[in-house]
Amino acid sequence: MSTVADTTSRAFAEALDAADPLAPFRDRFVIDDPDLIYLDGNSLGRLPIATVARLQHLVRQEWGGDLVRGWDRWPGLPADVGDLIGTELIGAMPGEVIVADSTTVNFYRLATAALGARPGRTAIVTDRANFPTDRYVLQGLARARGLSIRWLDPDPVEGPRVADIAQAVDDDVALITLSHVNYRSASVADLPAITRLGHDAGALVLWDLSHSVASVPVGVQEHGVDLAVGCTYKYLNGGPGSPAFLYVRRELQEELRNPIQGWFGQRDFLAMGPEYDPQPGIAAWQVGTPSVPGLVAVEEGARLCAAAGIDAIRAKAVALTELAIGLHDAWLRPPGFSLGSPRESARRGAHIALRHPDGRALSGRLAERNVIVDFRAPDSIRFGLSPLTTRFVDVWEGLERLRVLAG
Ligand SMILES: Cc1ncc(COP(=O)(O)O)c(C=O)c1O
Repeated sequence: MSTVADTTSRAFAEALDAADPLAPFRDRFVIDDPDLIYLDGNSLGRLPIATVARLQHLVRQEWGGDLVRGWDRWPGLPADVGDLIGTELIGAMPGEVIVADSTTVNFYRLATAALGARPGRTAIVTDRANFPTDRYVLQGLARARGLSIRWLDPDPVEGPRVADIAQAVDDDVALITLSHVNYRSASVADLPAITRLGHDAGALVLWDLSHSVASVPVGVQEHGVDLAVGCTYKYLNGGPGSPAFLYVRRELQEELRNPIQGWFGQRDFLAMGPEYDPQPGIAAWQVGTPSVPGLVAVEEGARLCAAAGIDAIRAKAVALTELAIGLHDAWLRPPGFSLGSPRESARRGAHIALRHPDGRALSGRLAERNVIVDFRAPDSIRFGLSPLTTRFVDVWEGLERLRVLAG
């Protein structure tokens, strides 16, 4: 009898679950339908059970009972939750991350501040595979300020290469901005090298960490990252529309100015003074009244990720995506699929893309079979394998049902 396990068998996936140190975390999430194969945690993460109780308490006791007195405590939440994300998940120091507004708004604010800090330089570098909202914001900024955008056209699977970026960067570039993990392919950009390259050219570098936070370690402090933004409703499980985070390296906090001078960024904001006088540090990056329900939900989600630990999360993401790629190779090439994510695990985040000309229709038919994935034009079915809530058997089931559909 062969001792080599059949790596395409359900039993193999079950054995991986049995050995998974993060398996117990799934029990800390609401799972109403145990038969639903949910492979879309990179769009909207599942609901932590602790968040239900926390929101009930916030709404019933704090809002219902404390009323406006809640504001004695709530103003500390954006910085506290920011520190939790910053120190536990992206490698920042305390006082470098704040939770506020949306990723789009934060991206706009940081890009604007970066351009303002490099007067006289007229170019922005980004890539055409970057997330649409980032590209649209940059187009608007370039138009408003008379700047040019140097668009890179990276390989759709492998993402932007350092050498291509080096060619596009000179001393006229004010800002380089890219996604760390690409939303479609999950390719991981070489953040340390690109950040260094930007600094050597005197540019600022802004990273979108929406698909990195709580899925891959980032090491913002270690790599001297200037600026970053990211969503909290994906791997952080903060809930639909939960407020985003924003990171500014401590050394830049004096130099860069928040372009929206709202009263929550004001020193002693209840003094209602005549002139804007920003708070010191990261607190100056607040704008208006924060969403308290959103913040407490982000805090609960981030606590779970911190308890699991980013290194364990990363290890499981690699194992989940490796299983998915192995099943793709074994089953899905003949019916016309190709891998839309890097094969090298170090270059891949926590989802995989499978490309197929009928990808849109197949995603819909998977949903009819109780497998939730998403589709990203033109041809990529994304399998989001959020490590705290996805089992290896979920990967197996999802791809097995796709094999049956496509075969
Ligand atoms: C890379 C990236 N940036 C930004 C966003 C969205 O930003 P917002 O929360 O402002 O809609 C997403 C959403 O999926 C994303 O994947």
